[in-house]
Amino acid sequence: MTDHSPNDRLRLLDGFRRRLELDNGMGVEYLSLGKEEAKRLGEWIESARPPAAPPKTARPRPSAKPVPVPGGRRSASPAPAPAMRRPAPAEKWTGFSLVPFVEPVDRPDRRAELAELEKQAHGCEDCRLCEKRTNVAWGEGDLAAKVMFVGEAPGRDEDEQGRPFVGKSGRLLTDIIEKGMRIERRSVYIANVVKCRPPGNREPREDEIAACRKYLDRQIAVVGPKVLVAVGGVAGCALLGLPQKSSGLRGNWREYAGIPLRVIYHPSYLLRQRAYENDRTEADRVTWEDVKEVMRRAGRDG
Ligand code: URA
Repeated sequence: MTDHSPNDRLRLLDGFRRRLELDNGMGVEYLSLGKEEAKRLGEWIESARPPAAPPKTARPRPSAKPVPVPGGRRSASPAPAPAMRRPAPAEKWTGFSLVPFVEPVDRPDRRAELAELEKQAHGCEDCRLCEKRTNVAWGEGDLAAKVMFVGEAPGRDEDEQGRPFVGKSGRLLTDIIEKGMRIERRSVYIANVVKCRPPGNREPREDEIAACRKYLDRQIAVVGPKVLVAVGGVAGCALLGLPQKSSGLRGNWREYAGIPLRVIYHPSYLLRQRAYENDRTEADRVTWEDVKEVMRRAGRDG
């Protein structure tokens, strides 16, 4: 077993508490626990907590004042200063730690509904994108995710592998999730507005988006995230029902069917900006602000 420092253990335990949501009672439903079992689990987590450090007592400050002596005379020299002790070195922060991933409790109803829809999508011929696709990039992740990302459409890598966001943009999105938000990629749910690759990576057309809409709407309804993140303007417009190319979507909270929605820059845009400037850019900075907002809204301050 790995040796964890007390601080690591605290972080792990707090992560578990958050994931299990024992505090607000949702975990009870999530884990299908009875009240007594939930209480016992909470107590077990508490019992694993390292003992609290004893409260610090104020150390007497060396006084320069002469010490009064009985009889009203003053001693010639001040009291000897207590021996100085070096403060203990602060515990070193050794990189970011991912919030521990708890295997999702199998929810057969959700799994079954999405599996059925996915099967339909693999044979779907509702728009012309089916003609050139190699694979349908359906979507993946935790079906009980708090945060769900929705991108535009699969690119070449996604078409080859049948998975969303696995190419260059996908690697940056994964970094945003894992290094920025400090949660594992498999703890969120990731899908695209359209599930088949538009030829030459062009933007999906409105009729293609409309044809694929039934899948996306059900994916969102089944996952029921606390926060939705539209990755790029195309996804933002599609989710908000706005004409494509509507601008000014990022930087504010919006709503999709009562779920808070944040539109962020697409990673391919971030990569293009970095290539022009040979460095991180203003677009990276504002994306980080958006991501922090998402974490706050999803219940973590990062
Ligand atoms: N861009 C997207 O919008 N989705 C992907 O899956 C990959 C790249």
